[in-house]
Amino acid sequence: MSKIAVYPGSFDPITLGHLDIIGRAALLVNELHVVVVHNPNKQPRFSSAERVELVRASLAEHGIHNNAKVVVDTLDSGLLVNYCRMVGASMLIKGFRSNVDLDYELPMAQVNRDLAGVETIFIPANPEHGHVSSSLVKQVADLEGSVTKYVSHAVARALATSAANRKK
Ligand code: PNS
Repeated sequence: MSKIAVYPGSFDPITLGHLDIIGRAALLVNELHVVVVHNPNKQPRFSSAERVELVRASLAEHGIHNNAKVVVDTLDSGLLVNYCRMVGASMLIKGFRSNVDLDYELPMAQVNRDLAGVETIFIPANPEHGHVSSSLVKQVADLEGSVTKYVSHAVARALATSAANRKK
């Protein structure tokens, strides 16, 4: 049976930590949907279309070296489990860096299982990326620090442009 999973997130922007989780998740499934989700609790820096483009460009730069099909998509409204049903996915992938992430993720995993029987697979962050977050890279880039250790070249360029525009 084909194993289809969804890796959702704000990806504002995608980091090397996210890319590491995508690569490792793609080893476990046949098809992985990386879905840029609108989170009403966050004010995104990049539009949904820009975030999708940055995910695609980052995947192209870093490559996913296995046979899984990786699909990049958006979800601007509605429940994540409805998206899972639509694409035939039985599981969600989430990365976690610490117990803080798990505290935030656990109720969502339980609700998604309650709503539709969709299981969440948690993948621990590679310690190399344990301190990397989208919000920190935005802050570092805005203050003109180097983010090349944390994001793809495409994202570093987008962050530099965004930082320059914010200073105008
Ligand atoms: O990267 P984020 O912002 O922490 O991702 C959170 C996200 C987008 C995965 C979460 O907010 C979500 O699943 N939103 C979709 C709406 C939904 O299905 N909510 C109910 C179940 S949690």
